[in-house]
Amino acid sequence: MARNILVFYGSYRRDRQGIKLARWIVDALNARGDDAALIDAKEVGLPILDRRFSDYGDGEAPAAMAELAARISAADGFVFVAGEYNGGLQPGLKNLTDHFLEQYYWRPAAIASYSAGPFAGIKSATAWRGTLAVMGMVVTSTALSLARIGGAFDADGKPAGEDGGRLAKAFPRFADDLGWWIDAAKTQRESAALPF
Ligand SMILES: Cc1cc2nc3c(=O)[nH]c(=O)nc-3n(C[C@H](O)[C@H](O)[C@H](O)COP(=O)(O)O)c2cc1C
Repeated sequence: MARNILVFYGSYRRDRQGIKLARWIVDALNARGDDAALIDAKEVGLPILDRRFSDYGDGEAPAAMAELAARISAADGFVFVAGEYNGGLQPGLKNLTDHFLEQYYWRPAAIASYSAGPFAGIKSATAWRGTLAVMGMVVTSTALSLARIGGAFDADGKPAGEDGGRLAKAFPRFADDLGWWIDAAKTQRESAALPF
């Protein structure tokens, strides 16, 4: 059965580059038979965190927040597309993520990082690993990392050049790992009560 996977991306910059990677990951997962969708923080448009979803009473949360909470709860797994700002997390993605908590529990997450330079946002990936684990997700060990994102896709959004080629080559293992953990977590959720 197709796996319901949400791909989170959170840059608000007008010249943002990571959107190309996020869109490509969504398409590449769907091409494998999964049911992946992009969650673009800028498009969702939640404010800087005031109240979390859980701080609202039943039916009182803003519609966009309630809708996303339901989509997260219904998802089988997640991909976080993580750019790196000053050696750490992008605030837009962190802000979106922090609005929710229990909705992520008992599902796996995979991290795809990128940057403009040669180090592929690896510090951001490391920071997200700890954050996602705290938020109830099991983080897969196979990360995807894209260096020099500016030249890694052609005009049609297809991987291009050496860096794009590396991305396309690394993707199947990344997706296989996430898929395996999604299936494992799903089986467990269906056969055992949640511990809390
Ligand atoms: C505020 C800011 C801080 C940045 N810090 C880093 C950094 O620490 N390491 C890095 O490799 N690239 C850094 N960059 C370059 C980004 O990797 C590059 O701009 C990337 O495209 C940002 O993602 P986005 O285009 O999706 O917003 C930074 C860019 C910005 C705008």
